[in-house]
Amino acid sequence: MATANTNPSMPADFLWGAATASFQIEGATREDGRGESIWDRFCATPGKVKNGDTGDPACEHYHRYPQDVALMKELGLRAYRFSIAWPRILPEGTGRAETKGLDFYDRLVDELLAAGIRPFATLYHWDLPQTLQDQYGGWTGRATAEAFAAYVDVVSRRLGDRVKDWITLNEPWCAAWLGYGWGVHAPGLQDPALAIDATHALLRGHGLAVPVVRRNSPGARVGITLNLTPVHPATNSPEDQAAARLSDGLSNRLYLDPIFKDSYPADLLESFGHAPDIQAGDMETIGAPVDFLGVNYYQRVVVTADPTGRKPLGEPVRVEGADRTAMDWEIYPEGLRELLVRVHRDYAPAVMYVTENGAAFDDVVAPDGAVHDERRRAYLEAHFAAAARAIADGAPLEGYFVWSLLDNFEWAEGYSKRFGVVYVDYETQQRIVKDSGRWYARFIGGGVS
Ligand code: GCO
Repeated sequence: MATANTNPSMPADFLWGAATASFQIEGATREDGRGESIWDRFCATPGKVKNGDTGDPACEHYHRYPQDVALMKELGLRAYRFSIAWPRILPEGTGRAETKGLDFYDRLVDELLAAGIRPFATLYHWDLPQTLQDQYGGWTGRATAEAFAAYVDVVSRRLGDRVKDWITLNEPWCAAWLGYGWGVHAPGLQDPALAIDATHALLRGHGLAVPVVRRNSPGARVGITLNLTPVHPATNSPEDQAAARLSDGLSNRLYLDPIFKDSYPADLLESFGHAPDIQAGDMETIGAPVDFLGVNYYQRVVVTADPTGRKPLGEPVRVEGADRTAMDWEIYPEGLRELLVRVHRDYAPAVMYVTENGAAFDDVVAPDGAVHDERRRAYLEAHFAAAARAIADGAPLEGYFVWSLLDNFEWAEGYSKRFGVVYVDYETQQRIVKDSGRWYARFIGGGVS
């Protein structure tokens, strides 16, 4: 049974959990009437995803969820953040709802509640119905925001009596820039102006969804998850500092400002020479009050000015000698403290959660059948300590979701990158709790047999 937090570095009611996302773990992409998503299409496009990997089999969580929830309970998780696949609920994006898709999340939620685990449901973690991409240009079209609100209405009517913690969007920065600006994620478009337009549609979708959830889920708490990145100038030169400031605009202020200050950062839009199509009432919609902010933290970025002046946001610098994960991301725990304190100071969300933090390493199953991932354990310990320092510095942090519960489909990297505290053998679907998972369970007061 999930118990109260017993870790002395955090408040007694601190919510320790783990996170996943639908497309990354569910598999069963063609079952029970699920429609095609932009990620199915992207995976089917040669050269887009490493090794030609697709959303199948993933972790077969669609069928194995009872076993996975039992594992969460054994680990002692108090909360679980998962996402709902829009194309399972509305296969064509709008209109007809698929009962079987809704039934799946209904069963999952009941299973979690029976295990004493608090469900945090993310309504959009990147698996947009392909029909909306075809009809409206996906998130570049205003109509997709309205479609999102209609989908949220269907989901929150069905689950709103039991799910009380809702996250509208996961990482609109990634959805907009990786998907529409740089083409490394679905739908694979490469136009920075489209990324700005997508940002606005995503944030409108968020703002339209907030009151819908409140209406359908009495007493619900609604928030949004942003991936935020501390940006440091490579030197104290005015040029490096100016580049870092604009780069911070793209990574952080472009999302935080509209949500908490009802405006876009003017310096950033000016440097792009492109502004979103803001219609009457849009900024009020986007600024709908939220109950919490979810922060995903993985790394910082260090930037230097571009001497030619062609890139006002500067260029990232590789920090020499830094310890790195298998994603080649710098390990920099102090960035989490800095970020939480800065967001608290500049935006004052009532409550914050770390909705994702974790690392990929090259895990192997040892001859003794275990996965000895000491580097991941040390990574988590150092980041938990940074979070504790942020709390000591006044940040209203109330929970922490490790990314991820299970090894899973890591987007353009396919199955090649393992983020789980539980190892997944994709051939046999066997789960092995890694040493980091065992340590985490002990740290939060649980235990694994
Ligand atoms: C993300 C994600 C996860 C990734 C993780 C590691 O939101 O970027 O929510 O889906 O797997 O961040 O890259």
